Amino acid sequence: MFDAKQFIENSLKEIKLDVGDNRVISACSGGVDSTVATYLVHKAVGEKMIAVFIDDGLRRDGEPEFVVRILKDFGVNTRFVDARAEFFEVFKGKTDAEEKRKAFREKFYSTLGRVAKEEKIQFITQGTIKADVIETVKGIKSQHNVLGQIGIDSQIYGYKILEPLRELFKPEVRMVARELGLPKEISERMPFPGPALSLRVLGEVTAERAAIVRKATQIVEEETLGLGTFQNFAVLHNDKATGIKNDKRVYGNIITVRIVNSIDAVTAQASQIPFEKLMKISKRITSEIPSVVRCLYDITDKPPSTIEFE
Ligand code: XMP
Repeated sequence: MFDAKQFIENSLKEIKLDVGDNRVISACSGGVDSTVATYLVHKAVGEKMIAVFIDDGLRRDGEPEFVVRILKDFGVNTRFVDARAEFFEVFKGKTDAEEKRKAFREKFYSTLGRVAKEEKIQFITQGTIKADVIETVKGIKSQHNVLGQIGIDSQIYGYKILEPLRELFKPEVRMVARELGLPKEISERMPFPGPALSLRVLGEVTAERAAIVRKATQIVEEETLGLGTFQNFAVLHNDKATGIKNDKRVYGNIITVRIVNSIDAVTAQASQIPFEKLMKISKRITSEIPSVVRCLYDITDKPPSTIEFE
């Protein structure tokens, strides 16, 4: 049986010993893994750690403000980096899913590298958990937080990596979050991919297209709150469809809603949520987002689909 209290105790000792008199940065997205890793290191070394929130323009509605507020409330030394324009710049003209992932990853690490240099740190904290390592080793998915695979290691950059959660699975990370007294919005947070909304804007990622999927996501999340499903989100398609707005024919955007049940994200089932609920979501999305004329529901399990579209 996993003992969260004991884990925290050992982990704090270990981090203190590893870090010594050095300085650390921790990239924190507000997800449960990176927040727990950040808070653990903060508890262990205090002012020697700086949490870095990189705003890539692809976060959910209100997320940047929320994450920075939580970190500051917990007394964590926090730096906010507005990199929105830079991220949209690297997505220009890119429509291939793997190319987009690569562009995101490179921009993310070059931004973090810049901050690391400015802050003169020696350690980078990562919220890597056991499943990330397993999936990467198996070749299922190149998790953007497994540094070795993208050629970032201590030899090349001169930074050491702290991965305090590398031996834990997600349910254990949540137990640690509760034990640390982090708020429910963090400990019970829905999984959200590292490359964020870029995986849910099919085709080219622009600020305008990200704004459409952000609004649709907000509607889906509001309407599905309390359903207890594993992941609920919206996806913006790269093609268009005919519809009618203000009595006129328009050629507009298509949104797909995806709501799945899962335990570990390795397999997932399309959730059989009440039809009235789906109708309400569709009505809200097509009326509150002027450019959207069609709303679809994804009824495919994983496998053969994956949870995300890209
Ligand atoms: P898939 O789409 O592979 O997703 O069925 C399984 C789970 O992983 C999340 N996901 C990611 N998380 N970086 C992440 O941190 C990624 O590149 C990534 N791709 C997918 C997805 O949201 C789901 O929970």
